[in-house]
Amino acid sequence: MPALFWRFLDKQIDEESNIILCDKNIVPSKVFLSELKDKCKTALRKKDDNLSWKNFLKIIKIIEVDVVSGSGHIDLLKIIKKKFDKDRPIIFYLAIAPNLFGHSCLFIRDSGLNVEQSRLVIEKPIGKNKSSAIKINQQISSIFKENQIFRIDHYLGKETIQNLMALRFANTFFENQWNNINIDNVQITVSETIGVKDRISYYNEYGAIRDMLQNHLLQLICLVAMEPPSHYEADLLRDEKLRVLKSLKPVSEDEIQTGQYRSFSDELGKNSNTETFVALKVMVNNWRWSGVPFYVRTGKNLSIRASEIVITFKNIPHDIFSKFRNNTLNGANRLIIRVQPKEGLKLKLTSKAPGPGGMRFFPSELNLSFEETFSDRLPDAYERLLMDVVRGNQTLFMRSDEVLAAWDYIDPIVEIVKSQETQLYRSGSMGPEDKILYLNGHKWIDPKEVQK
Ligand code: BG6
Repeated sequence: MPALFWRFLDKQIDEESNIILCDKNIVPSKVFLSELKDKCKTALRKKDDNLSWKNFLKIIKIIEVDVVSGSGHIDLLKIIKKKFDKDRPIIFYLAIAPNLFGHSCLFIRDSGLNVEQSRLVIEKPIGKNKSSAIKINQQISSIFKENQIFRIDHYLGKETIQNLMALRFANTFFENQWNNINIDNVQITVSETIGVKDRISYYNEYGAIRDMLQNHLLQLICLVAMEPPSHYEADLLRDEKLRVLKSLKPVSEDEIQTGQYRSFSDELGKNSNTETFVALKVMVNNWRWSGVPFYVRTGKNLSIRASEIVITFKNIPHDIFSKFRNNTLNGANRLIIRVQPKEGLKLKLTSKAPGPGGMRFFPSELNLSFEETFSDRLPDAYERLLMDVVRGNQTLFMRSDEVLAAWDYIDPIVEIVKSQETQLYRSGSMGPEDKILYLNGHKWIDPKEVQK
């Protein structure tokens, strides 16, 4: 809703649009709307915005609908038919449990609402494993065509993630280095300071592997590892991501580690093995990436909120400065892509310290901070993705075969983890002590260092 309000403020959503909120049990609309206003408050910055808020409320309707029993569908139909405009898309956004996707699609079909300009948006996780994902895909695709289905992974809508594609495919010098000849390892960290809060029963069923790794983190790996598509077009891009997913080497036991923050079982009220942290070594088995480990980790209740990709290049093959005293070369070059917060790019280099005292070195950086460079607010991922749905642009959405290929990789991981001990970790730490990288002579790069 905040994303829609921002788009309303920018007049991309006009006053002729309609936002119809449906729920099985609706709270009184006064209470709901005041909570909603609170959620949208960062957008209410100027005096005029309050007037816009009032106008925004005019396009919102709240009605009670039960997709399982079908009750409420007459009210929904009445509203939609009254407002029907064949030049505007009708978007069904299912922010509900995956086991209700099928019911909802049948409900839409039986109400005669699946017309040519209808679109369906569903949120991850799409299923709990490959077989349930297949079932969901079958249910929805028996009613909607693939070009009407938008599977949201909001990481793909983040500004820096799209910049990663610009960095790779709109410049020459990185792409020339982007392979196993020049890159030593890639690290992807998505660390959160929040716990699971009121989503605990959902989370206990899904865990970090299904909630984050199966979708957001695998998508990040795809964007770093994929080959350039011939055009920036939805299917061409998704074909390349699919190739990466199909090249992933199955993970072995010593390549994965899970953890749980200490108070998780207390919050849940019973013992649980669900992982709130996962780290693994991913190998992309193809010519470009053979031998380059992608280390990936994500967790809740960690010490810092940071999503970042760190590409470490290989060391120089020979040090011509070795005879100089005080010669401390600062290690390998690094490209750091800060997804959030402090969105931007950094390139770590070694430079000569100024002065006549011979060759002394210091670590230097080329720093592109999006915050400083683009003084305007960076739109939230959902703002872009929702407008893409309106425009019918599927580039940043997952195709069904991608989702299934991701489950092909994840299902065996879930099996391995079942037989492993989930280590407990202290909230406010960076998860359990590393058991993977040290086997390869590597270390996690501290996100605090990256954010400096
Ligand atoms: C969601 C997960 O998809 O992404 C959450 O379900 C997680 O558990 C969230 O907290 C993280 O998103 P962001 O944009 O805050 O990094």
